[in-house]
Amino acid sequence: MAHVKTVVTTPFAGQKPGTSGLRKKVSVFIQPHYLENFVQSVFDSIGNTVGKTLALGGDGRYFNRTAIQTILRMAAAAGFARVMVGRGGILSTPAASCVIRKYKTFGGIILSASHNPGGPDEDFGIKYNIPAGGPAPEAITEAIYARSLTIQSYKLVESDDIDLDQLGTVRIGTMEVDIFDPVADYAALMETLVDFAAIRALFASGFKMRFDAMHAVTGPYAHEILERRLGAAPGTVMNGIPLEDFGGGHPDPNLAHAHDLVAALSGPESPDFGAASDGDGDRNMILGRDFYVTPSDSLAVLAANAPLCPGYTRGLAGIARSMPTSAAADRVAAKLGIPCYETPTGWKFFGTLLDAGKATLCGEESFGTGSDHVREKDGLWAVLMWLNVLARRRESVADIVTAHWREFGRNVYSRHDYEGIETAAAEGLMDHLRGLPLVGTELDGRTVSVFDDFAYTDPVDGSVSTKQGIRVLFEDGARIVYRLSGTGTQGATLRVYIEQYEADPSRHGLDPQVALVDLIATARRLAQIEDRTGRAEPTVIT
Ligand code: G1P
Ligand code: ZN
Repeated sequence: MAHVKTVVTTPFAGQKPGTSGLRKKVSVFIQPHYLENFVQSVFDSIGNTVGKTLALGGDGRYFNRTAIQTILRMAAAAGFARVMVGRGGILSTPAASCVIRKYKTFGGIILSASHNPGGPDEDFGIKYNIPAGGPAPEAITEAIYARSLTIQSYKLVESDDIDLDQLGTVRIGTMEVDIFDPVADYAALMETLVDFAAIRALFASGFKMRFDAMHAVTGPYAHEILERRLGAAPGTVMNGIPLEDFGGGHPDPNLAHAHDLVAALSGPESPDFGAASDGDGDRNMILGRDFYVTPSDSLAVLAANAPLCPGYTRGLAGIARSMPTSAAADRVAAKLGIPCYETPTGWKFFGTLLDAGKATLCGEESFGTGSDHVREKDGLWAVLMWLNVLARRRESVADIVTAHWREFGRNVYSRHDYEGIETAAAEGLMDHLRGLPLVGTELDGRTVSVFDDFAYTDPVDGSVSTKQGIRVLFEDGARIVYRLSGTGTQGATLRVYIEQYEADPSRHGLDPQVALVDLIATARRLAQIEDRTGRAEPTVIT
């Protein structure tokens, strides 16, 4: 057994995992002992690690490789028998979930700050996923945080850095480190879920797409699956090489940040289909020619069309969506006669429903879509599902979505983000809202039927989560939701979600910002957004 060294340390404040793990500036993570304290707190909180296997990888951002070397030394000291590391330290979040499940590891550590920018002055993140493949539930993240507040030492095995780019097995002390191909298992899983032959035929017929990997983790996955296995033309994948700073961009697949893709999909000569994924590969944005599909609609359309895809021919057990996600999926569920679950924001709340077989598809308005094939949202999976639907229906993206609206009606929807506002102002705004006596009152001609701070009782394990977002529900089905982000690293971000149902097809083509103009004004006035934050307009509209 190699020499295990014990290093004395003192706790850091604030090592509390948020919506999706611990996210801080790189400058915070590179402080001596900072990463080590957190990793030791994880190892101390997840049960006996001796003799177990751990999966490890990340989105390739700055500090990814350094962190992996540190975690390997600490895993060896914690007694792990084996760590599976994606080559180059690369492992998309859904691929990590796939590998954890396939090889039945004792969970995994994923290094990512998702869609936040990367580089020495930007963000880094780390989270632990449980053996079922999903993010650790609150009981575990709370235990990790509690441990981080009392930690006095951590352990590591002293050894040289290992070569992360060489496939094969090496050792640190007695622990095996397997450097494996991060794409192969994931691609094999996709082949069981979607109709690769139908999609190959679609591409062979002249169908064109663009996929923007945003210089983040999905580049290697998209090259292999879209271009090599499915025969999409070379050049289909843009920004396909993962870079430590994502090329200076903000790897968030939305209309604001994936502007090159949006430009590429406009005009009569543009490709038929466009898609993008985020830093760690779990988000997706879907575009048609001159057409944007909101994530809420994407979930609903995929739910309605899932039986066209080989992995879902038996239909869906249920659908789950986060509370701020639009109710478009609820309408599909109602028609199919299956349940639709409304959970708090964050993928971790879907885990119990998926494990219990209550839900098959899940989605969030924040560009997250997934199914029971893994326990994370999955960007490329959503793209492949869309390709499968397009290959079978042979209609345009716009035609598929507008036909969906004609059948189900349209849940007109928009999210307005006010980023980087003062924390005190944001909290003051939420407190102000909580104090309002709204039920039964009229706001700009609409009557408030429900006004609450969303609370959720997990139907499987009974755990309760409170204060998950302030909801103003109106009698006519319209809705305003206010939440503070749990993933930001600077100040506070206020998210305002605005939704109203439109049954009349002659109004389905309206720009949501136009259709929702009155409700948007109500939302701003009610929360006194400009007075309290100094912002007249949101930073990002999706
Ligand atoms: C955001 C999204 C949420 C998603 C999370 C992780 O969290 O809103 O839906 O699960 O990122 O990708 P928030 O910053 O709103 O807490
Ligand atoms: Zn992500």
